[in-house]
Amino acid sequence: MRLKNLNGRPIIVVGGAGYIGSHVCKTISSKGGIPIVFDNFSAGHEHSIKWGPNELVDLRDSQATLNAFEKYKSVETVIHLASSIEVSHGENFPSEFYTNNVLGTLNLLNAMKNTNAKKIIFSSTCATYGEIDDVPIMETVTQNPSSVYGKTKLAIEHMIESFHKAYSLDYIILRYFNAAGADPEGDIGEEHDPETHLIPNALEAAANGKLMEIFGDDYDTIDGTCMRDYIHVNDIAAAHINSIKAQENGLVSADINIGTGTAYSVFQIINMIEKVTGYNVKYKICKRRAGDLSKLYADTSKAEMILGFKTKYSDLENIIQTAWNFYKNKNERFNPKK
Ligand SMILES: NC(=O)c1ccc[n+]([C@@H]2O[C@H](COP(=O)([O-])OP(=O)(O)OC[C@H]3O[C@@H](n4cnc5c(N)ncnc54)[C@H](O)[C@@H]3O)[C@@H](O)[C@H]2O)c1
Repeated sequence: MRLKNLNGRPIIVVGGAGYIGSHVCKTISSKGGIPIVFDNFSAGHEHSIKWGPNELVDLRDSQATLNAFEKYKSVETVIHLASSIEVSHGENFPSEFYTNNVLGTLNLLNAMKNTNAKKIIFSSTCATYGEIDDVPIMETVTQNPSSVYGKTKLAIEHMIESFHKAYSLDYIILRYFNAAGADPEGDIGEEHDPETHLIPNALEAAANGKLMEIFGDDYDTIDGTCMRDYIHVNDIAAAHINSIKAQENGLVSADINIGTGTAYSVFQIINMIEKVTGYNVKYKICKRRAGDLSKLYADTSKAEMILGFKTKYSDLENIIQTAWNFYKNKNERFNPKK
C-alpha cells in the first residue's frame, strides 16, 4: 500500500523540526508532497527544515495555533509529533508536560475542528502500555502507563477518540517503539538535548572514550540487560505515508503499533556499535531504573494488515551505521580519543 505520489499535496507536520518530524518531512517531499512545518523550536532545529515552508507556532497558544491553521485552510491532513519527550523531566515537572502535551494538543484539535483539517496522524508511544509482561505487545492490551510522559500521551489518545466521535475527526494513532538511526544522506538525525536515548549516547561514548551508564545487568534476558524494539526512523516516516494512503482509502480510526517485532539488548547494541565504529564503548553498570521492563517489542501484525506496513531499513547494522554517519557529520571537529 505504499503511496507513490502525493501530487503536490500540502500536509501540516506539527513538530516537523524535530528528529522524527524532519524525517517525515523529507519522506513526504520524496513522495511529491509539501510538508508545512508548525514548530516552536523548543527542541527542534531550524536547520532540519528543508522541504517546505514553516510557521513558528507554539501549540500552548490557542490563538496562534488557530491563526496558523487559518493561513493554511485548504490543508486536510495533519501529522502531529510535537511533544515534550524527556521522561525523567516529566516526572519532576508534570505541570509542564501536561500543559505542553495535553493542553497543546487540545488547542491543536480545536483549531482543526474550526478549519478544514479533518484527518490526524498522531505520534503516540509504546510508553502508553506501561508495565506489560506479555510480549509481543498487542494493541488490544489494557494501557496503563507508569510515566507522566506515557500518561500525557494516553490522555491525548483519549481526546482524539472523543473528537472523532463528536466531530468526525479521522485519526490514526501510531504507537512507535524505539526510534533510531538517521537518514542515509547524513544531513538529519537525532539531536536531542539532553540526549537520553541509548544509541546516540553509546556512539558518543565510542567517539570520545567517556563512560556510559548501563542500568541493570541482572534482568531475565539473554545477557542480563534490557531489550527493546529499535525501528529505523525512515521506516517510521514511511508508516506515515502508508497512513495517509489508508485515510485516503476510507480508514476513519485506528491505533497501530509501529515497531519491528524484534528486541535487542543493550550489550547487543554496544557490540554492533563497536563493530560499525571500530571503537570500544566503555561503560559502567549502574542499578536498575525504576519502571524499566526487561523486554519490550511490538506485535506488528496490525500494522501489516491495516497499513500494509513492513520495515525496510531497520536491520540493526543499518540503524547503527546511519546514526554513526550522522554523528560524524554533526561533529565537524570530530576527534576521537581511544
Ligand atoms: N524518539 C522516540 O524514540 C519516540 C518513541 C515513541 C514516540 N515518540 C513520539 O514521537 C514524537 C517526536 O519525537 P522526537 O524524538 O522527534 O522528538 P523531538 O523533541 O526531536 O521533536 C519534537 C518537536 O516538537 C516541537 N514542539 C514541542 N513542543 C511544542 C509546542 N508546544 N509547539 C510547537 N512545537 C513543539 C519541538 O520543538 C520539536 O521540534 C513525539 O511526539 C514523541 O512522543 C518518539
